[in-house]
Amino acid sequence: MSFFDHVTTFPDDPIFGLAADFRADPRKDKVDLVVGVYRTEDLKPYLLKTVKEAESIILESEMDKGYLPIKGSSEFIAVMKKLTFGEEVFQKEGERIFGAQTVGGTGALRLGGEFVKAEIGNFLSLSSPTWANHAAIFKACGFIPELYPYYNPKTHSLDFDQLLDHVKKMKKGSTFLMQVNGHNPTGLDFTKNQWRELSYLLLQKEVFPFFDFAYQGFSTGIREDAFPISLFFEEGHEFMVTNTCAKSFGIYGERTGAIFIVSKTALNAKKVESRIKNIIRSSYSVPPKHGAAIVSCILSNPELKEKWEAEVGMMRSRVVKMRTLFADKMIGKGGEVDYQYLKERSGFFSMTGVLPEQATKLAVEYGVYMTKSGRVNVTGLNHQNIDHVVSSLFSVTSR
Ligand SMILES: Cc1ncc(COP(=O)(O)O)c(C=O)c1O
Repeated sequence: MSFFDHVTTFPDDPIFGLAADFRADPRKDKVDLVVGVYRTEDLKPYLLKTVKEAESIILESEMDKGYLPIKGSSEFIAVMKKLTFGEEVFQKEGERIFGAQTVGGTGALRLGGEFVKAEIGNFLSLSSPTWANHAAIFKACGFIPELYPYYNPKTHSLDFDQLLDHVKKMKKGSTFLMQVNGHNPTGLDFTKNQWRELSYLLLQKEVFPFFDFAYQGFSTGIREDAFPISLFFEEGHEFMVTNTCAKSFGIYGERTGAIFIVSKTALNAKKVESRIKNIIRSSYSVPPKHGAAIVSCILSNPELKEKWEAEVGMMRSRVVKMRTLFADKMIGKGGEVDYQYLKERSGFFSMTGVLPEQATKLAVEYGVYMTKSGRVNVTGLNHQNIDHVVSSLFSVTSR
């Protein structure tokens, strides 16, 4: 007899599973377009110079290894609040924005999901498609997430009217999850006017906005990418934002993120604080220290902050360069699909239109790995592998 005979085996996470297949592939010309990690032209993860500098400052300072408070480092929360909402809102209205440090963006989403389920309501909508882990996280919080129309794979455009129809049918007190920019997996974001329309409708319908802000700085700019947050703040919403520092600081493994909840009053922000702290204490007690120390060190030092902004700008320009090259090469092949749309996307990701069985063929026959949904991370491309990727993709999709 074993206590575990009845345990059902869950399928491997599709993205981590593909990453393992890639590592096991012995071919020299294999290409990894799967995982949402920034790669340099040498296809290496990028250790930011400002992160290294901050780490040496931290080492010098002999930071102790004691526990952080339940909600995390107050310095980290302050710098992240400024980064997310801007200096002016921080100074004038920071009191009614509760913030906590979290275990990465995933930890923030889970914490936010548990809070919403317990305190706001049972209904939550996600974009179709969205980052694969969203559904799993919110199901674990007790939701049965609904999907709102978002991406039309036939036209490679946004189904905005259908999306608005979905919102019009949402119950008061439901939650609407949106990615701020660099939408994962489509790379397709709302225009400013679409954000305005959506903000108006969500206010009217009394639906709670929940922003996942994972790719700050990778679309237009660090402040520019926060446009929807500033808009919703100005328009008087109460809402939630979850951040990850994994991407913009390149500290994926340090599990550093944040959650912010905007209330109408400072009094309600205090109530939210007590509830969130209660959830944190009973799940992981306190967040980890090192990543938050790195981010605080960079963002509180004007010189390091400026250098960091330049590094993010450099990563962003490589993203744009590889995306444009990819689009131009695909257009140059002259097939039936107009790949012009690839140029209009933002951030790491794009949908290629590759079907699941074609994605398998690409991996097996050509060593080109992308998700089964046909999503690629354009930072997995470089000047050496681009022609191999484009010709493999073209040959598989035009069979
Ligand atoms: C849209 C989105 N949200 C959240 C996350 C989670 O970030 P983290 O790795 O910090 O948990 C990711 C990571 O890929 C993501 O793509």
